[in-house]
Amino acid sequence: MNGLSDVFKLNNGYEIPCVGFGTWQTPDGKTAIESVKYAIEAGYRHIDTAAVYGNEVGVGKGIRESGISRGELFVTSKVWNENRGYHRTLAAFEKTLVDLQTDYLDLYLIHWPASKKRFKNWEEINLETWRAMAELYKAGRIKAIGVSNFLPHHLKALMKTEVKPMVNQIEFHPGQMQEETVSFCRENDIVVEAWSPLGTGRMLTDPQLQKIAAKYGKSVAQLCVRWCLQNHILPLPKSVTPNRIIENTEIFDFIISDDDMKEINAMPYIGGSGLHPDEIDF
Ligand code: A2P
Repeated sequence: MNGLSDVFKLNNGYEIPCVGFGTWQTPDGKTAIESVKYAIEAGYRHIDTAAVYGNEVGVGKGIRESGISRGELFVTSKVWNENRGYHRTLAAFEKTLVDLQTDYLDLYLIHWPASKKRFKNWEEINLETWRAMAELYKAGRIKAIGVSNFLPHHLKALMKTEVKPMVNQIEFHPGQMQEETVSFCRENDIVVEAWSPLGTGRMLTDPQLQKIAAKYGKSVAQLCVRWCLQNHILPLPKSVTPNRIIENTEIFDFIISDDDMKEINAMPYIGGSGLHPDEIDF
């Protein structure tokens, strides 16, 4: 990967730019509009949002005001948990399009699997949600479909359906590499995206990461984003701060050595969201 417009190829042949601009916790309104415009100006061509972030209107405005045509951008959103199931997912998708002011999505994801803790029929619920996603995909309303926070046992059921997931977006940062899920995705040609590649900022003060980053004259944020790519994972760093938005793109002028990759890959858990897909009660 040499730049922000380099791509991963999804299992349906559709291309996805190799770094996405994350917007989780970005407030709607001016902040969303300005940060998205700034990111596009900085070269991002892939924007990741979700209905539950509550910022689709601002993100959509930022996209429209960026001056870059819709066709040159890759836009992802996600169906929220309360809209699982066939009919609700179809309706949620239409609302997302209206809020984003677009007539198609590049990628639509199931935000979280129905959890075992809350639902006896979790598998059936996920399949019904997926049925709606697949229908929208086949109708050409979405270019690619996938899931988020799915573990292998959640994915297995979907793998038996006509349209296989193309993406799984999971929490991924040093100390939380979700090896089992990543291996399953690799074996099944599913691109893995990293949410919170900076551990929502928690990685930035870690002394071991600081030491490695300093060797390359890079920040820990840049190290983490680059480290994702070298692990063949698509990072989605979030920032609303102009200099950080740019900083997180300056990751194509260094290579983390094999030894340093091994060292980071072997790091123990140093913090994360603590959310487990089978345990969540939302
Ligand atoms: P902000 O949005 O205020 O700039 P993650 O992508 O793992 O969710 O991390 C996002 C968090 O990390 C946000 O709090 C964001 O702050 C902060 N952040 C993003 N990029 C950088 C950076 N280059 N340096 C320091 N903090 C950053």
